[in-house]
Amino acid sequence: MPIVRNKKIEVLYSVEAIARRNHELAEEIALGDLSNLLVISILKGSFVFAADLIRALHRAGLAPEVEFISVSSYGAGTEAGKIRLLRDVETDVKGRDILLIDDILESGNTLKFTRDLMLERGARKVAIVALLDKSMKRRAPISADYVGFECPDKFVVGYGMDVGHAFRELPFVGVVTGDA
Ligand code: IMP
Ligand code: MG
Repeated sequence: MPIVRNKKIEVLYSVEAIARRNHELAEEIALGDLSNLLVISILKGSFVFAADLIRALHRAGLAPEVEFISVSSYGAGTEAGKIRLLRDVETDVKGRDILLIDDILESGNTLKFTRDLMLERGARKVAIVALLDKSMKRRAPISADYVGFECPDKFVVGYGMDVGHAFRELPFVGVVTGDA
């Protein structure tokens, strides 16, 4: 079991499993009818996944433009489901086919907020890819068009995802199981 920052990490999705799945996802996405594709990576959690997925999309024959958006849920104690826009895209999305990339689809609030924002701005089509889907935690009426892995109800770290700003650098997805 890997030990990082003096914590034991159980590997849930290995480097190899993620690479294989990214390739399959890109092939699936390339079959969809998305033209003049604009991918939008939802920061911060999806930046590693997005970096790998856009290169897999290239190998699958697509030539996406890449954008970033940063959103955050309001802190504890505020109304559930409220999302705040921290950093906007710089591209006019009117008439565009968009692929939103996120790390985890959990309550669905983040992706519903972001998808609705793009549709309000006149995007032609908004598809969603999430590396992980915790479907048992869904609250908002939303699903992903493309899912890497159905994720158990555990708090995961690595491959861009953090707990308290730590572990984003891990090349795999895992769960912190205790002190080493
Ligand atoms: P939701 O779908 O709006 O509830 O939010 C999902 C967001 O919460 C994801 O984009 C992640 O950034 C974060 N998140 C949810 N579950 C986890 C986890 O297990 N580890 C790290 N971040 C998580
Ligand atoms: Mg996120």
